[in-house]
Amino acid sequence: MYFDPRVYAALISLQPAIPYDGIKPSGSCVYVSTPRPYENKSVSWDCEAGYYCLGPSYSSKFLCTDGFYCPENTQPVYCCAGYYCENPKTIKLCPEGYFCPIGTVNPLSCHYMASCPPGSTSANKYLIGVLATAIMLLILILFQIKKKVDEEKNKKYKRLLIEPRFENSEKTLDRVSKTFDIEFEDLGLVLPSGIEIMKGVSGSLVHGRTCAIMGPSGSGKTTLVSLLTGKIRRTDGKIKVKKFNENGIEVIGTSRQLDYYRKLIGFVPQEDIMLREPTIREILVHSALMRLPTEMPREEKKQKVIDVIKFLELSHVMDTVIGDEESRGISGGQRKRTNIGMELVAEPSILFLDGPTSGLDSATALEVCKLLKKVVKHQGITVAAVIHSPSENAFKMFDDLMLLGKGGRVVYFGPRDEAMNYFNDLGFVLPEDESEPDFIMEIASGRVKPKDDDLCLEDLYDLWLKFQYQKKNRASSVDSYSVSNEGIIINVESSLKPGRVRFWTPIYQTIHEFYHYVIDVGSEFSYFLKGLIFWTKDPVRQTPNVFFSFILLFKRACLQIYRNKTRFLFDLLLHFGCGALVSLATNGLDYIGRAPNQLCSIAPYVELSSCLNARDDLQTIGVLAALGVTFCGINAGTTTFGYEKVVYWRDTSSGMKTGPYFLAKSIADIPRMLIAGLMFSLAFILFYSYRARFGEIYVIILLTYIASWELGYFLSAIFSKEKFGLVGTGFALAFGMVLSGATPILDTVKENNSLKWIYWMFDISASRWSVEALYLKELDPRKWIEIHTESLKFTYSFDHYPKALYNIIFIALAWSCLAFLAMKLCNRDKQR
Ligand SMILES: Nc1ncnc2c1ncn2[C@@H]1O[C@H](COP(=O)(O)OP(=O)(O)O)[C@@H](O)[C@H]1O
Ligand SMILES: [Mg+2]
Repeated sequence: MYFDPRVYAALISLQPAIPYDGIKPSGSCVYVSTPRPYENKSVSWDCEAGYYCLGPSYSSKFLCTDGFYCPENTQPVYCCAGYYCENPKTIKLCPEGYFCPIGTVNPLSCHYMASCPPGSTSANKYLIGVLATAIMLLILILFQIKKKVDEEKNKKYKRLLIEPRFENSEKTLDRVSKTFDIEFEDLGLVLPSGIEIMKGVSGSLVHGRTCAIMGPSGSGKTTLVSLLTGKIRRTDGKIKVKKFNENGIEVIGTSRQLDYYRKLIGFVPQEDIMLREPTIREILVHSALMRLPTEMPREEKKQKVIDVIKFLELSHVMDTVIGDEESRGISGGQRKRTNIGMELVAEPSILFLDGPTSGLDSATALEVCKLLKKVVKHQGITVAAVIHSPSENAFKMFDDLMLLGKGGRVVYFGPRDEAMNYFNDLGFVLPEDESEPDFIMEIASGRVKPKDDDLCLEDLYDLWLKFQYQKKNRASSVDSYSVSNEGIIINVESSLKPGRVRFWTPIYQTIHEFYHYVIDVGSEFSYFLKGLIFWTKDPVRQTPNVFFSFILLFKRACLQIYRNKTRFLFDLLLHFGCGALVSLATNGLDYIGRAPNQLCSIAPYVELSSCLNARDDLQTIGVLAALGVTFCGINAGTTTFGYEKVVYWRDTSSGMKTGPYFLAKSIADIPRMLIAGLMFSLAFILFYSYRARFGEIYVIILLTYIASWELGYFLSAIFSKEKFGLVGTGFALAFGMVLSGATPILDTVKENNSLKWIYWMFDISASRWSVEALYLKELDPRKWIEIHTESLKFTYSFDHYPKALYNIIFIALAWSCLAFLAMKLCNRDKQR
């Protein structure tokens, strides 16, 4: 007798499951019962527990596999949620402390913080919120302890301040041991575009004198200072350095480039470039410890800071944070003085200042000028300052004046008090109601004319050259260059040469720049190697070695994180929020194994798809998590270096090494990464019924975080901060989603000829490996037979797990190396 199995299928009925331990099952847990004789059906058939039979005419019985429930006389169903089936014959209520999702073979241990009553289908996770809050509280407490420690330290410094040694407010700084004169001839600068912005500027800066550099806006004052300090490479001219010892005697035979004495040059930029989180004292102590010679005892360095704080009259605010536009700290004038103090504590022999008074009220500006005079008087150093619109009194604080006109040409250079005489001789008359510096500025911008002459600005340049020429002839010197009383050198012929811009100049300049770039990188590398092999000492000034710089920079990096504590905590909330969102998206996603094969032969056609394929959402879950983590990681990573690049440039230009800085900041970031990963993971499991262990999920998420964080470092080193958002999003989409191996699917890419060549891009994407790792760890506890007997989809394999983790670590290291190189190699001109 033969019947179509589908006819038998119509005869089966649903019966409540009979749990092994006798506890009455809930109504939804049922098994499929084959017809029994007492049911008065036309046929009935028997089948042993653990097996299923398709019908009375089928002599063979089929083994029920793990994950299914097959009591006597039944057809297989998935083991009900809330129960577990150690073997397909029995079903047991999920015990207390465990939870059992659908198809469970071994109950899963409940999360530590969750409570699982008997029969739980998932761990309840309300306590995760409590845990997250507890972590935040703990961090707050740690921060509070740090604050207490800080306060103690402040008291120590306060005591130092009121020690008798400092009672005298006229306490002065000591003379520096080495001083320099700088002579420059015929400086010129032609930009690669062919525009000439500086031409024929000659003069000298003498130690023990302050020089004011003035001129209308755009006349090249900043350019001049940059040329002198070597921040820009000059295209023409010479700079000569004369070195003097303590007794003011010239040290002969030391003709070096100014660049060589970099560590003895202080440069105060126009903007107050400094970190905003530390206090004034912390900034100055850091600068002193980083830049003062190692021979000097630490206590003396700290005294030096106290001296400078006193000197700059910052004692009452020394423990106030700098602050910025968003969070108020010290005032603008105080910041300016700190800016100068950062250089003063380093005991420079030459001090350049670009606009130290701009943006200050006239009284404060005067104070700054007085201060410069005081520094020069006491320390005997060389000072040149760009001054924008000084008051009459501030102007008088300077010994020399360098007046520049449009196009970077000299209008006057010499003693300040002789400037007016010079202009009087040319026929300019100072009106009664005008101050001297204002009048001089008007002359340099060509707005006033001499009384009975029609001079234009160009004539002024020529007149100055003529004046110099005459002066030179009057002097007894015979060679073509001569140093006059004021230390002014002039070479008329070359200065009068018209600036020619030929067609190929820009091309030549670009090649030239590139050549210099390569030379620059090469020489630094060879210097680095030499230092590594011979452990050479710096002949100019031996500043703290790599290890001590690392310690100092690490302390500063930790301080930054600690001072940003609200941002730190808020960031954690954001990571938690992102995790929670991703978790919500994974709600209801799962892996449900394939129905048994033989059963499928009697399944209606529309049901066949579930027979052929398991319901597999695990990869989707992985991609959602990886995408979220990559977004968060990249964005968090860009904040580490991205927003303090200018500070980094300033620090490197005064001799800081990139290596210890990079390492210090990266290591200080580790707690941030650990906690961010933890927050994300905790939130991620809120709505997601995971079967892997929490520790495994955390490790995968944490490693992906680290890799993305390092990618963020790299992006922040290359791009400017306005672009972080967009570039970060682009990279997150690329590496978090497109290259995660789900869309397009890995095996398709591997086999598709037109896509094959980009397969390596998947290999260098951390998320591709994290998706696989999570997939494997999620799949492993599921006991459906096809998982452990057939090969996995998407080219995945269970033995890839350790490899996946290693690969993520390698990728993180690679991004980190790239970030370091990018930091070092990009914007080299700004690091000078
Ligand atoms: N890198 C550069 N590219 C193009 N123009 C520049 C560059 N550097 C300076 N300049 C031009 O050179 C002139 C002098 O600039 P700058 O030295 O900054 O003037 P100042 O400091 O006197 O106001 C300006 O006209 C400026 O536009
Ligand atoms: Mg300027």
